[in-house]
Amino acid sequence: SGAVEKDLVEVLFTEKQILDRLGELAQEIERDYDGKDLVIVGVLRGAVMVMADLARALGRHVEMDWMAVSSYGSGTKSSGVVRILKDLDADISGRHVVIVDEIIDTGLTLSWLTSNLSSRGPASVEICTLLRKPEALQMPVEVKYVGWDIPNEFVVGYGLDYRERYRNLRDIGTLAPHVYS
Ligand code: PRP
Ligand code: MG
Repeated sequence: SGAVEKDLVEVLFTEKQILDRLGELAQEIERDYDGKDLVIVGVLRGAVMVMADLARALGRHVEMDWMAVSSYGSGTKSSGVVRILKDLDADISGRHVVIVDEIIDTGLTLSWLTSNLSSRGPASVEICTLLRKPEALQMPVEVKYVGWDIPNEFVVGYGLDYRERYRNLRDIGTLAPHVYS
């Protein structure tokens, strides 16, 4: 497995730290939604790992659904335009929804998704993200569950990619400079 891990220059969060933190967030969610119907919505593709581990940390029934969205243009999310590549299978009207993602960067994705899902008449819509970069935020996003706030630097692993690589790392870290060159 070192063939992938060696590209990390620094580990920010180990697999154990991530699972421990998700366990704490799962307890909060259990308390907050006690006795209530709950759908968690994972944002493909980065949220796959968080969804899998968060859902299993929840000691209760939870429905798992998925959305895939894409911002128009390559690299620039500043247009604010988002399109749906894969919509929910579930009808969320009257139901409690928690959107799950692994990182909030500019906030565009989750700001747009929150308002999109809110327009479908759910009982509530909240956000759970493992990471958030407060310095990169361009859109207001109210987040109920956050794992950690991190500095504005590029991170990979645990769902986070650099050119579609490193998503399958168990830890989260920063890439060594040689990877970019
Ligand atoms: C990444 C990440 C978040 C989003 C955060 O997804 O997984 O979903 O960007 O950025 P934002 O706050 O600036 O919107 P991306 O669209 O790169 O696709 P992916 O999940 O398939 O990697
Ligand atoms: Mg994503």
